[in-house]
Amino acid sequence: MNPPALLQATGSKFQFTQPQVSNNYGPADWFPEDHPAMPEIVAHGKPGIVRACALCHLPSGRGRPENAPVLGLPADYIVQQLHDFQQDLRHSAEPRKANTGEMVSIAKNLTEDEIKEVAKYFSTVPKSKYIRVVETEMIPAMRIQGEIYFVAGDGKEEPIGTRIIETPEDAAQTRLRNPRSGFIAYVPVGSVRRGEELAKTGGSGRTTSCLICHGPELKGIGPIPNLAGRSPSYLVRQLYDMKLGTRQGALSALMKPVLANLTDGDFVDLVAYISSLDP
Ligand code: HEC
Ligand code: HEC
Repeated sequence: MNPPALLQATGSKFQFTQPQVSNNYGPADWFPEDHPAMPEIVAHGKPGIVRACALCHLPSGRGRPENAPVLGLPADYIVQQLHDFQQDLRHSAEPRKANTGEMVSIAKNLTEDEIKEVAKYFSTVPKSKYIRVVETEMIPAMRIQGEIYFVAGDGKEEPIGTRIIETPEDAAQTRLRNPRSGFIAYVPVGSVRRGEELAKTGGSGRTTSCLICHGPELKGIGPIPNLAGRSPSYLVRQLYDMKLGTRQGALSALMKPVLANLTDGDFVDLVAYISSLDP
């Protein structure tokens, strides 16, 4: 048998095998220079109990569309969310979404000291832009693999409709979990402008301006999270979960009235705009 092939993410000085890239308890860290030293739980988890945070959220915490970008969030907000998961106040509205279920069990297996440590770590990783929003009528046909949309590559196209489709800029780099390789967000034509209007004005009373709580550039205020430039797939799932009440932590009550009168189309517009901003 040949030894496993050595792989290399673009721009990294390291090489890893595929099993090392996706090691549950110590996944490859292609760019240690992009983040402070990882706490033990982030880098390795607790073997057999908690998979490494870095496996799903990547060592920098930038995350992937099927989980969450956690870098650069306020430390107090991260602590609050981990407590909410622990107390079963935060679940996915889609019961088949198994990884949110795993996140709940991960939180339940963290000590208070570990929670403080990860919150401090992820809150200090520098943010950078990794979502490129493209307005379009038509998108390439997609296929879903590991909860991520990849271009099917059969040359076919389909109408975008009222959807946001987030897909890797470079499929091979995303498969290698290269955290510097970003995502394209295909969004409907006109959605960014409509979303901006709604986010800034509240749409003549249909909702509240998002800027009041999330800050003038949606970069967060105190324990209220930054939204700008984060994964649209992640953000829209949260709007559903908070509207439907499966996410109901202490602070989510502030979002409930904001979402009550908004439609799925409004969610698409808001998130198209928000994810197009600089983080
Ligand atoms: C199996 C993959 C996986 C692992 C491992 C994992 N998470 Fe998560 N995490 C998720 C998913 C999935 C979500 C929620 C996404 C959703 O509901 O749409 C999430 C959400 C979060 C959030 C909420 C972010 C926000 O903006 O509210 C925090 C904080 C978080 N994780 C921290 C951690 C920490 C700390 C660790 C390691 C101790 C960890 N996660 C390990 C998958 C994972
Ligand atoms: C009255 C204050 C307030 C207003 C107005 C508000 N938010 Fe929020 N938002 C919050 C708070 C507080 C949280 C944290 C909720 C929690 O901890 O569960 C939050 C969380 C979120 C999240 C989840 C972020 C994450 O990391 O999981 C999204 C997405 C969001 N808000 C979008 C919006 C949008 C879009 C608007 C405008 C239409 C808006 N918010 C208006 C207070 C507000």
